[in-house]
Amino acid sequence: MSESSRLSGEVFYPDPVAAAAAHVPDHEALRAAAAADPLGFWAARAAELEWYKPWDKVLDDSNAPFFKWFTGASTNIVHNCIDRHLSGPYRNKLALIWVGENGTDHQTFSYFSLNREVTKMANVLKAMGVGKGDRVTIYLPRIPEVVFAMLACAKLGAIHSVIFAGFSADALQDRIGDSESKLVITADGSWVNGSVFKLKDIVDEALRFSPTVENVIVVRRTGHEVAMDPLRDHWYHDLTALPIAKGPCATEPMDAEDTLFILYTSGSTGKPKAILHTHGGYMVGTYTTLKYTFDIRDEDRWWCTADPGWITGHSYLVYGPLLTGATTFMFEGGPTYPYPNRWWQLIEYYGINIFYTAPTAIRSLMRFGEAWPNRHDLSSLRLLGSVGEPINPEAWQWFHRVIGKGQCPIMDTWWQTETGMFQICPTPSLPLKPGSGGKPFFGQEAEILDEAGQPVADGEEGFLVLKNPWPAMLRTLYRDDERYVKTYWSKYPGKYLAGDSARRDKDGYFWIIGRTDDVIKVSGHRLGTAEVESALVSHPAVAEAAAIGLPHEVKGNAIHAFVVLRLGHEPSPALAEELRKHVSIHLSPIAKPDWIDFTEKLPKTRSGKIMRRVLKARALGQDEGDTTTLDE
Ligand code: PRX
Repeated sequence: MSESSRLSGEVFYPDPVAAAAAHVPDHEALRAAAAADPLGFWAARAAELEWYKPWDKVLDDSNAPFFKWFTGASTNIVHNCIDRHLSGPYRNKLALIWVGENGTDHQTFSYFSLNREVTKMANVLKAMGVGKGDRVTIYLPRIPEVVFAMLACAKLGAIHSVIFAGFSADALQDRIGDSESKLVITADGSWVNGSVFKLKDIVDEALRFSPTVENVIVVRRTGHEVAMDPLRDHWYHDLTALPIAKGPCATEPMDAEDTLFILYTSGSTGKPKAILHTHGGYMVGTYTTLKYTFDIRDEDRWWCTADPGWITGHSYLVYGPLLTGATTFMFEGGPTYPYPNRWWQLIEYYGINIFYTAPTAIRSLMRFGEAWPNRHDLSSLRLLGSVGEPINPEAWQWFHRVIGKGQCPIMDTWWQTETGMFQICPTPSLPLKPGSGGKPFFGQEAEILDEAGQPVADGEEGFLVLKNPWPAMLRTLYRDDERYVKTYWSKYPGKYLAGDSARRDKDGYFWIIGRTDDVIKVSGHRLGTAEVESALVSHPAVAEAAAIGLPHEVKGNAIHAFVVLRLGHEPSPALAEELRKHVSIHLSPIAKPDWIDFTEKLPKTRSGKIMRRVLKARALGQDEGDTTTLDE
């Protein structure tokens, strides 16, 4: 995408009637008010939710960057997602609508019946010895049980660690080991484009070296034969038939700062980071951002296409929508199976009002042409949303014109696993510029800095930082405070380093350019170059490897790997294919390199660090920049 088209200056103004009726009728006025008193803004939002005991202090910054929010307060996010709705008008409202990949499986849960299911699962977990502070790994497809499992853990005060069900046994094993989970919740398999993906086999392999796991709960989804270890593995439907599953289960009162979940994400090293989020602040942050940005109303049906294995699924498929009392829609399958109208068909049939997805999905669907969406009545849509990577103007325009019929503003939300909630995003009363997420959320300020920490001029590229703490911020990296401080707070003390480069224009709109570290966004998924490289060097033919991201029309970025072979191995197309498969099996299909280049030598600094920047410049035919440190 060309820079000129990203900065074309086109502005879409809000419809004045719709904007006036929104939760935030005047974006700039609220921004100014929240800027004058960010803590007052957050305290007022927190007061819209229920607490067992109120807070003494909104923000405790006495030990920055280990910020604490709503200190002294007691709550549980499940109390606000479910319990409080049971005695109010939402009791019989649909909380969750779920549709299976085959299109015929379909389940709905009111807040009342969601509570029944979550209570059942919590009772089962409790009977298996899961309690406050214990870690539980969830490795499930997009089926209702993934929602029940997350909420059941939270209800008991246990810490969930959801692993995207596309990760390999090696990746799963690392994450189970790092979190020392005592229980794993999985399924026999998942449906992927009509075929069975054998999840349980992957769990079995991962658990060969996982001494902490005592029990595995297996949900039956695909019905194929799986091996069950009689001492360790239990069918979920057998457990729920037992008396232990019956009866009520109290929601555990939690300190606002108690851990709600950890979620692994990629960073600059091979070891994924476990981002830690807490009950109180995360609850206030996800509730407020979803309500304001997507203007959630009682009658809305909200669809976030993300998988619960990622932060977007945590914050805006599960927690945020339930906190606002919305109806959240979850679809097991992908956008193009069996045909590329699948999503549009679902929007029409279920009357979805707000649709939140990723640019990569829009770009892939655009390629099938307008006839597919045009077969469907999409007039229920009121708002659209985008997340995960920069959206190019062509995709923005198509989404706006073909899906939104020119009537639906697009909320482009910039945020991260670490931020837990939107950080730079519009609301329906802010004029939109295609390709920009607009301005920092209420109570937040962002800046673009140069290497030395000085703000750059408007329009110049630099490092994006966030200036104010926010309630849903990560509290630390699980058991690694040092890496937390080093990664986010050491480059510019007192400011949160996002790891993205960006520009701010003269109107104060932010334009994200891309990652500045060794993280690659492939189809919106976050991968570390080091993870791909270590998967490659685990192959017996590979001596050394370097991975970089190169621009890709649909995926945003695709992985290009450079490989040095061990003596006795010869480059060949067959070996390249084998290595691509190797990464797919040992890390994840989403990490499969598009290209493998065999090379004799990798460019390195004299201290032996691979210069990926030089590889990238060479691959793109660009100037290699400063190569004085290159050890040729
Ligand atoms: O580079 C930014 C990009 O995704 C990164 C965060 O990835 P992850 O933790 O996986 O969370 C993704 C979903 C919140 C960011 O550092 N990113 C996310 N949203 C946008 C974006 N880039 C541009 N525009 C966005 N709206």
